[in-house]
Amino acid sequence: MPAALPLPAPNDAMREFHFSDADFRGLVELAYQYAGIALADSKRNLVYSRLSRRLRALGLRTFAEYRTYLDETDAERENFINAISTNLTKFFRESHHFDHFRDHVAVPYARNKAGGRLRIWSAGCSSGEEPHTIAMVLKREIRDVERQDVRILATDIDTEMVARGTRGEYPSSSLEEVPRPYHEYFERSATKADNLVVARAVRSLIAFKRLNLMETWPFKGPFDAIFCRNVMIYFDAPTKANLIDRFTAMIRPGGFLYIGHSESLNGVHPGISLVGRTIYRRTA
Ligand SMILES: C[S@@+](CC[C@H](N)C(=O)[O-])C[C@H]1O[C@@H](n2cnc3c(N)ncnc32)[C@H](O)[C@@H]1O
Repeated sequence: MPAALPLPAPNDAMREFHFSDADFRGLVELAYQYAGIALADSKRNLVYSRLSRRLRALGLRTFAEYRTYLDETDAERENFINAISTNLTKFFRESHHFDHFRDHVAVPYARNKAGGRLRIWSAGCSSGEEPHTIAMVLKREIRDVERQDVRILATDIDTEMVARGTRGEYPSSSLEEVPRPYHEYFERSATKADNLVVARAVRSLIAFKRLNLMETWPFKGPFDAIFCRNVMIYFDAPTKANLIDRFTAMIRPGGFLYIGHSESLNGVHPGISLVGRTIYRRTA
């Protein structure tokens, strides 16, 4: 069989919509301004393909027209951010974090603090697999957790993701990501045969909200643990450093910050120290 010819990389002449350097630069600038997302030159095709859908939906013919529309229509900002954000996630992703969280947060709470306040924040929660994992770990260690003062705040800039997390409904294939002892927290969906819904006792621990991490945070904390994983990879170094300082100020002394595997912090951040693989503890 003859070898398949490699597909040529798309160039501007082959594209459905005219997409100039100025268009790309302008959109990169907006992504940074609105969401702190730093898009590298290598993301040019990704930006084109994700936003082409918006042009088709709006009946526009060029990216220049789209930029004007975006400039004049506040509501389009949300669609723009939803289109360019990367939402890849799964249950029990980077599972060593959940082992640590179980041993250093959930189990000590069950032993010593039952009845006390416990607050967790999943910042950049995407479609909800991360906060639902946190909630399942808590439910397994603290059997009557839904009657305790235990809450998880789950936030994301992407409104479609926040809506999906709130529904708590996932394809049944997601169960492959979930260790067996946690399967009991999934129920068959009443509306879609091949879907599962996270059990109410687990879902009830979580409040999903839309929040842009670049803006003012409308709460004071303190949190016993913050998960902000695979979010800061999209930010540049100064944005990331600033965010780490803001997270540190929101964690109670002794509380934990969990970050993604490729996000380890460069330099020293006052008030937190490394205590495990991509796990930091508020010291003072
Ligand atoms: C790759 S997902 C990570 C999901 C989850 N934390 C995990 O590790 O599996 C990154 C998420 O960060 C969100 N995000 C990006 N920029 C944001 C911002 N400025 N404020 C809040 N969320 C943001 C995206 O919408 C996306 O859902």
